Amino acid sequence: PIPVIMDVDTGIDDALALLFAVSHPQIDLLGVTCVAGNASLPQVVDNTLRILDLAGVADIPVAAGAVRPLIEPARSASHVHGADGLGGIALPTTSRTQVDESAVELMRRLIMQHPEPVTLIALAPQTNLALLLRTHPEVAERIERIVFMGGSASVGNATPVAEFNVWHDPEAAAIVLDAGVQATMYGLDVFNIVAVAQDRADAMAAGDHRAARVVGELLSHRVALSEDDSLTYTGLIGDAGAVCSLVAPDLVSFERRPVRVELQGLSRGQTVVDRRTYAGEDVLHGVAGGAVAVDVALGIDVDAVAELFL
Ligand code: BDR
Ligand code: CA
Repeated sequence: PIPVIMDVDTGIDDALALLFAVSHPQIDLLGVTCVAGNASLPQVVDNTLRILDLAGVADIPVAAGAVRPLIEPARSASHVHGADGLGGIALPTTSRTQVDESAVELMRRLIMQHPEPVTLIALAPQTNLALLLRTHPEVAERIERIVFMGGSASVGNATPVAEFNVWHDPEAAAIVLDAGVQATMYGLDVFNIVAVAQDRADAMAAGDHRAARVVGELLSHRVALSEDDSLTYTGLIGDAGAVCSLVAPDLVSFERRPVRVELQGLSRGQTVVDRRTYAGEDVLHGVAGGAVAVDVALGIDVDAVAELFL
C-alpha cells in the first residue's frame, strides 16, 4: 500500500475522502492533520475524529494544525457545508481527542520515520503544508508526491477565477508549489463533475452498514450554489475524487504544466495553468519563470471513478 498522510478541513467531501481512504486496500493512512477551512479548527478536528471512529479506525492519529491562513483571517464555508461542516447529519460523539503533537510535528515525524517516501493528500487550504515545508525543509525529499484538491484551469468557485482551498490561503499554496516536491493538482475541472446517481446514494443511506449509511447521507446533501436554488449539486464525491486519482491514475488524464498562484487583486487565489505549447525545457518552466511543473488533472472517467468510490 501507498503510505499516506491526509490534511483535511472536514467538510462533507473530506469525510467522504477519509472513508474512502481507510477502506481502500492500496492506502496505508498513517495520520490525519486538520486545518481551518470549511469550518473552524475545533469543529474540523471533532468532525474528523467522529468520521474515523465511525469507520472503526480509532488508532489513526489526528493532529490539530493552523487555526487560520498565513495572512488573512479564516472565512467560513458554512453556506456549503452547514454550520457544523457536515451538513447537519447526526454522527455519534467521540471520546477521542487529537494527539499532543501539532499537525506540523506529526507530519514531520511520520514522514521522517517511515522507511518509504510518503504521499501527502491535501484536501483543504494548504496552511499546514506550507508551515511544514518552511519549518522542516528536509521533509521535501522524503515526500513522494503532494496530491492536492485545489485550483482550477478554468472557472473558480470562491471567486470567478479562484477555487476555495487556494483562495483561502493563496500564500500557502504558492509556498507548497514552490517547494520542489512533485505535485498533482486535482482541481475544479474534475472535482465538479464526479457525482454518484441519487438512487445509488439513496440505496447506501438505506443500507445496514453504519459508515455506508453516512456516506449515502453525505452524498445526498444538496448544495445550494445560488440564492434562488436554481443551481444545485447532488451526489458530488468532491475531495474523495482526489484520493481516487491516486489509486486509479489511469482513470484520469493529466498534463504536466507550469502552475502559478496569483496573489494580487481581483484574481487573488487563481491558479494560472499555462497550457500553451512550448519546445523543450520551456514546457517545464513556462515563460514567467519560477513556475513549477504540476501534473494537472484535466479529464476524468466520471462513471468509473464514481463506481470505484462506491
Ligand atoms: C474544496 O473546498 C471545500 O469546500 C471542499 O471540501 C473542497 O476541498 C472545493 O473548492
Ligand atoms: Ca476539503
